[in-house]
Amino acid sequence: MSLSIGIHDLSLATGEFVLPHTALAAHNGTDIGKYHVGIGQESMSVTAADEDIVTLAATAAAPLIARHGTDRIRTLVLATESSIDQAKAAGIYVHSLIGLPSATRVVELKQACYGATAALQFAVGLVRRDPAQQVLVIASDVSRYDLDSPGEATQGAAAVAMLVGVDPALVRIEDPSGLYTADVMDFWRPNYRDTALVDGQESVGAYLQAVEGTWKDYTEQGGRTLEEFAAFCYHQPFTKMAYKAHRHLLNYCGLDTDPDTVTAALGQTTAYNRVIGNSYTASVYLALAALLDQADDLTGKSVGFLSYGSGSVAEFFAGTVVAGYSNHLRTDAHHEAITRRTEVDYAAYRALHEHRLPADGGDHATPAQTTGPYRLAGISGHKRLYTTR
Ligand code: COA
Repeated sequence: MSLSIGIHDLSLATGEFVLPHTALAAHNGTDIGKYHVGIGQESMSVTAADEDIVTLAATAAAPLIARHGTDRIRTLVLATESSIDQAKAAGIYVHSLIGLPSATRVVELKQACYGATAALQFAVGLVRRDPAQQVLVIASDVSRYDLDSPGEATQGAAAVAMLVGVDPALVRIEDPSGLYTADVMDFWRPNYRDTALVDGQESVGAYLQAVEGTWKDYTEQGGRTLEEFAAFCYHQPFTKMAYKAHRHLLNYCGLDTDPDTVTAALGQTTAYNRVIGNSYTASVYLALAALLDQADDLTGKSVGFLSYGSGSVAEFFAGTVVAGYSNHLRTDAHHEAITRRTEVDYAAYRALHEHRLPADGGDHATPAQTTGPYRLAGISGHKRLYTTR
């Protein structure tokens, strides 16, 4: 009998601040309907000057360590597309902050918003090789577009940490996987830029092509039929995209796109992304967190995952929710991570957006802003300095 491998525990973290879309709309004269209905976003998480992908990742991962210890973790894979260093893996700072043993392999993965899914699949492979081991997979991103650009309304920040192992308490990952890679320039960030470049309409079209491509391959790999899924977790650069993608998939399969059917399949997956914004690699796993935290009982049900990363790589795969999963959720902590954020006005958001760590090699302390457990205390000699609060 094949091993049951999957997500044993899952925890999320997000930024210190939140900007409601009403404030952005008031600034740029946009009808709020475009944000609330047109793209399906209500607010975006904004990171403090002393937060980054490392502090978010450590904050998400620490509760997993507190619950399960470090004994079985021999690999940490951190996926991000808002990397802070061209050479050193951000996960090494996290490894130190959360107290993982030195006998750990740590690596960073990148492929736009898709990276964490590659990390999850690689983790499944490692666990299959040695079922005694667990892999800590962390998706952590701060999404930042140019001020006053169309992408600005789809910014956000979050991390999701997942412990992958045998006999998972939450979701078993199934073997068939549908893959799709296409060389497109829909979203990218050259090494010399802090903000991403995006061709928004191109990216929506490329995403929909990828939905078709992954589904076709998933079917050819012997996957489930569409009707077998209780819910679908899509990558959500903005929550309306999940609806576009699912309607596209239903059309492609010749199925009815009745709005109630679509909402039943997706409605509960958008709650966190709608108020956090795009968290790139973490987005599809925030969808899973929102689904597990809200659905009545998903025991034994199949969930479809569509992970898309611009550039582009996409993957469709399935998970089965395990009996007793609801006893292992972190629903209250997830709500707390979202509700604890302090609301900022447009001017404060803009100042945070424009904040950059000095690049002169000097000693610089960062303003003390975060109330989270970890902070980026400063930079000295081009070295980032992290502290535990
Ligand atoms: N009330 C309700 N809906 C409204 C509206 C209003 N007052 N005004 C506009 N809308 C709707 C539009 O009809 C459109 O809906 P549709 O997509 O179903 O046709 C939607 O709001 C967005 O309008 P659009 O004119 O396309 O917005 P935009 O030019 O600002 O671009 C994005 C939107 C998402 C492409 C842009 O924010 C972007 O580039 N985001 C970053 C990239 C990204 O997220 N890509 C996704 C794939 S990874």
